[in-house]
Amino acid sequence: MIGLVIESSCDETSVAIIKGGREILSNIVSSQIEIHKQFGGVVPEIASRHHVTNISYVVEEALTEANITFDELEYIGVTYGPGLVGALLVGVSYAKSLAYALNIPIVPVHHIEGHIAANYISHPDLKPPFLALVVSGGHSHLIHVTEYTKLQIIAKTRDDAVGEAFDKVARTLGLQYPGGPEVSKLAESGKDTYKLPKSKFDNYDFSFSGIKTAVINLVHKEGINVRREDMAKSFEVNVVETLVEHTMNAMIDLNIDTVVLAGGVAANTYLRKHLISEANRNNFKSYIPALEYCTDNAAMIASAAYYNYVSEKDKSKYDILNNLDLNAKANLKIGG
Ligand code: KG4
Ligand code: ZN
Repeated sequence: MIGLVIESSCDETSVAIIKGGREILSNIVSSQIEIHKQFGGVVPEIASRHHVTNISYVVEEALTEANITFDELEYIGVTYGPGLVGALLVGVSYAKSLAYALNIPIVPVHHIEGHIAANYISHPDLKPPFLALVVSGGHSHLIHVTEYTKLQIIAKTRDDAVGEAFDKVARTLGLQYPGGPEVSKLAESGKDTYKLPKSKFDNYDFSFSGIKTAVINLVHKEGINVRREDMAKSFEVNVVETLVEHTMNAMIDLNIDTVVLAGGVAANTYLRKHLISEANRNNFKSYIPALEYCTDNAAMIASAAYYNYVSEKDKSKYDILNNLDLNAKANLKIGG
């Protein structure tokens, strides 16, 4: 069973060809990072325009690299939310046109389900149930994945997402967009010497706006005397420890023995190491995605699309005409 799957929720135009749920035949990612860098972040209108220009070429390249023709495709998958609405619309419209022209079903995918599914590609043995720690530019969630298509939110951030906090701290330290990898690089030569606040709630929720504001205030107060490397390190250690601590507490309390890391921030070296070592210390199994599947890409969306497709296949949900009114949803909730 072969699918062509599109991801265009932010600043990457990406198309993957997948066989079954885990075999990636191609995964083309056309990144706009260089274009948005000069603005210090993603400019939605510019992102949409570049998706329009790129998408046909990326589709063609994905098919060529996989050595697959249109008539071998059984379904078209696409991210329909959450994300930038103009960017999402390009992928959704293209997917609908292609599905209609080929007379095959269209499978809508939630972007976060895709991030989690990145782990199915990297780990052939991984199956639900597990707890997913999802950390991206827009999400910081603990999600209990009980079946491939059944997700239950255990915790979320009450304000900033962790990637967003990395990006804002990076900007305060004079680093370029996207800030996460830059902060992490700077932290390599720093020491955890700044005392930064940690938020505490009576559940597993996160909050990162307090620590972000503390960094901004300290940097302004110390001016040119600020030890940038130490600030980056202190921020990274604080945030990673909080993420992992909440995850371990939830696993112990809810009796879940397997943890899966997902989202763009899953590329963070310290987070990867710390999650694995704490999971080992608690005798939990842990899975982290290959680096190439951490930040946005269509391969991860493709794996999620496959599991959606096979779970709904017999219910005629994916009858071709049923999904032609599919729309992009900027604020799409998990599980709906
Ligand atoms: O998942 P993603 O590509 O896009 C969203 O769905 O939001 O995540 C992008 C986020 C950005 O905030 C970026 O700064 C962060 O992931 N990120 C990192 C690292 N690589 C990317 N954060 C910390 N350390 C990294 N190595
Ligand atoms: Zn993402």
